[in-house]
Amino acid sequence: MTAAGRVAVVTGGGAGIGRSIAERLAADGFKVAIVDVDESAALETAGSIEKAGGEARGYRADVSDRELVDAALSAARSDLGALSVVVANAAVAPQQAFLEMTPQQWNDTLAINLTGTFHTVQSALPDLVEAGWGRVVLISSSSAQRGAPNMAHYAASKGGQLALTKALAVEFARTGVTVNTVAPSSIDTPSVYKKREAGAIPSAEAMAKFIPVGRTGTGEDIAAAVSYLVSDEASYVTGQTVSVNGGSFIG
Ligand SMILES: NC(=O)c1ccc[n+]([C@@H]2O[C@H](COP(=O)([O-])OP(=O)(O)OC[C@H]3O[C@@H](n4cnc5c(N)ncnc54)[C@H](O)[C@@H]3O)[C@@H](O)[C@H]2O)c1
Repeated sequence: MTAAGRVAVVTGGGAGIGRSIAERLAADGFKVAIVDVDESAALETAGSIEKAGGEARGYRADVSDRELVDAALSAARSDLGALSVVVANAAVAPQQAFLEMTPQQWNDTLAINLTGTFHTVQSALPDLVEAGWGRVVLISSSSAQRGAPNMAHYAASKGGQLALTKALAVEFARTGVTVNTVAPSSIDTPSVYKKREAGAIPSAEAMAKFIPVGRTGTGEDIAAAVSYLVSDEASYVTGQTVSVNGGSFIG
């Protein structure tokens, strides 16, 4: 019974993939703390999980701000109990041609996607180590594995998560804490719909032609991989990247 009495934190859990992960972990039996810069989205997701019979709370924090992350996780501890699972999912995915990218744009993306991951994991990890059991899952991207035009800052931040996963996996290997990454590709979420409407990315049908399984992915596809990685059964899996991408970019 992996989930019984355990608390999972999901950053960026107010929307998209993070919301699917929060819903799945709640259905698995975890108490879920949803941390999002969009407080109403965090509270709405938590409310919807509670209506479905799960236990969840929503907290506002911008993951690039350490004090806010510490405060949100402290509130989660006092509301739900010591933390056992951390899913660092919150990110932004801006597009900008490299030669026009400003240092500010670079720094802002790294601050949320990579330093935000550092803040989230470092703030939560003492609970996991203390308990002698824990699961850390970072949500990276296929952009870190194959590159992405006009997204050098994003791809670099996501590559940093892959390296961080390996470093933490070996540093904490003897503590009962595993650290893994899920690398999604072409997952349909509200933010993807918005980019499609703006013409910034191709339609789902056009993308599906280039995906071996013949469809784009869902938040539930990613949540299923996370559900496995945070289970007791996955205790011998650490430092790994699980690519959930419909068979794209193998190798
Ligand atoms: N959708 C895809 O196809 C895809 C592909 C590869 C990787 N990913 C990764 O999956 C994760 C989720 O992506 P998504 O498509 O669901 O994104 P999304 O934009 O739909 O949702 C992101 C959530 O994170 C929150 N957030 C944004 N900045 C934040 C901050 N500074 N602090 C706290 N919360 C913040 C948002 O409010 C939102 O609720 C990201 O790490 C992304 O890089 C997504």
